[in-house]
Amino acid sequence: MASRRTFINRMVALSTATSLPLFKGIAAIDLAQIHQYNSLQTAQQIATDEDFWSQIQQAYTVSPQIINLNNGGVSPSPLVVQNAQDRYNKLANEGPSYFMWRILDQGREPLRDKLAQFAGVSPEEIAINRNATEALDTVILGMPLTRGDEIVLWRYDYPNMLHAWRQREMREGIKINYVNLDLPTESHDLIVEKYVEQMTARTKVVHLTHLINWNGQIMPVKRIAEEAHKRGIEVIIDGAHSFAHLQYKIPDLGGDYFGTSLHKWLSAPIGSGMLWVKKEKINKIYPLIPNDKPTSDNIRKFENLGTRPFMIEQAIGQALQFQLAIGNARKEARLHFLKEYWAKEALKIKKVKLNTPIPLSHSGALAHVGIEGMEAGKIEGELFAKFKIHTSPVKWEKLDGVRVTPHVYTSLQELDRLLEGLTYLSKL
Ligand SMILES: Cc1ncc(COP(=O)(O)O)c(C=O)c1O
Repeated sequence: MASRRTFINRMVALSTATSLPLFKGIAAIDLAQIHQYNSLQTAQQIATDEDFWSQIQQAYTVSPQIINLNNGGVSPSPLVVQNAQDRYNKLANEGPSYFMWRILDQGREPLRDKLAQFAGVSPEEIAINRNATEALDTVILGMPLTRGDEIVLWRYDYPNMLHAWRQREMREGIKINYVNLDLPTESHDLIVEKYVEQMTARTKVVHLTHLINWNGQIMPVKRIAEEAHKRGIEVIIDGAHSFAHLQYKIPDLGGDYFGTSLHKWLSAPIGSGMLWVKKEKINKIYPLIPNDKPTSDNIRKFENLGTRPFMIEQAIGQALQFQLAIGNARKEARLHFLKEYWAKEALKIKKVKLNTPIPLSHSGALAHVGIEGMEAGKIEGELFAKFKIHTSPVKWEKLDGVRVTPHVYTSLQELDRLLEGLTYLSKL
């Protein structure tokens, strides 16, 4: 306990000494201190330590006027990231072509190295881009396929990805086989079985969402990928909702391609994303925006975007530092704790239905909650009108309710307010 206090005091002292807002200085703290702190308490212990997380909250500039429980859509950046982006923007405007191309762009390779290290892969396999849609569409649209080739998809995959595959179906005659299953389901065995059911001798790709955006369910992607690989089928993984949220390295998932947003759980600037392609597969994927060597095995061919916001890309580095300072294990444990905190209580409210399994093996911070006899739009509207709680209405396939997504800056008081809101709605 004494060491924890010492640590927090040191952080406060550091931020005060530099006249920075409280906790902004965490990005500069020696990682050795963090690791020492880490070794004194487990991630699970820190997950419930409100002193610690209130310091994290102060690193953000979120509005106290509303309770933002739709961090799944997009997340805010801590001040240290916003400031970096502003600084880089100001610098770029001192002479755009000089400062962007010659100065800021020098940060591209170091950033690639850091992202790769964080993701547990080679920098030669990482491309930096604008969002998960761009990353995944690069693979979906750039992969050579011919009429009659088959793809396995699920109606619970993300709409943009479904659109991209359906466009290929429309234009080129590939065939999509949909997994025949509805959410929620707790059984990983059943999920694997349902995917395998759709794999045929003509299947070329299985497209998987690691953490389902509709209800926050974690998919057994590794097991499905193993089944696919046994049959010579490639695997694309949509990690938009799991990256920097769950604790893993990309190779742990067993895929061949992986795309993610960085403006969700990493809290990087809005409009940032990342693509990973296994080295030996890079040459066969044609870039969305071609360069002079579209069949090369240089991952940088996927970054031929033309003039782009370097200030956004470069401030990803500060978001990574912030993530490392919190620590992946602690972040995952905290996010899961926040979900459990409200979800377990919500289950006790009459008419409230939780459409997300609670254990960490099956879900992280996101959860979908419904109220018997009430539509998604009404729940969302009432929660905002009466309680100023911002959630995301999700009416998709068999799900009808709202998605609740806290983040590292969410307080327990805010979740208590959500429970008040759900209790109120259950009585209408
Ligand atoms: C599962 C999933 N994949 C992809 C995306 C697309 O992300 P982006 O808006 O960064 O392109 C989202 C966005 O919410 C998502 O939830």
